[in-house]
Amino acid sequence: MVLEARGLDVTPGMIKKLVSVNDPESAAILEVIYREEIAHVAAGTRWFYHICHRENHNPDIYFQSLVETYYKGGLKPPFNTKARELAGMPASLYQ
Ligand SMILES: [Fe+2]
Repeated sequence: MVLEARGLDVTPGMIKKLVSVNDPESAAILEVIYREEIAHVAAGTRWFYHICHRENHNPDIYFQSLVETYYKGGLKPPFNTKARELAGMPASLYQ
C-alpha cells in the first residue's frame, strides 16, 4: 500500500516531465501504469480493511503503526489524495 500509493503520488509529475521533453510514447506508457496502479492500491486497501475488521484493529492507527515499524523514512508528501481516494484509501490512513 505504501509503495503502490507512492506511485500514484509521483507518476503524474513524471508524465508531465516526459511530455515536456517530447517523449509522448513513454508518457502514454506511464498513463497506463498510473491507471493500473489505482486498482493495485484499491486491492491492497480492500484487503487491509478486511483484516482490520477481522482482527478488530482501528485502520488508521494500525496502518500508521505498521508504517512506523516496517517502512524506514516515513511517508513522503505531497500525496495524490484524489487518486488515493479513487483507490479507496482515505487521507486519515496516511496523514
Ligand atoms: Fe502496482
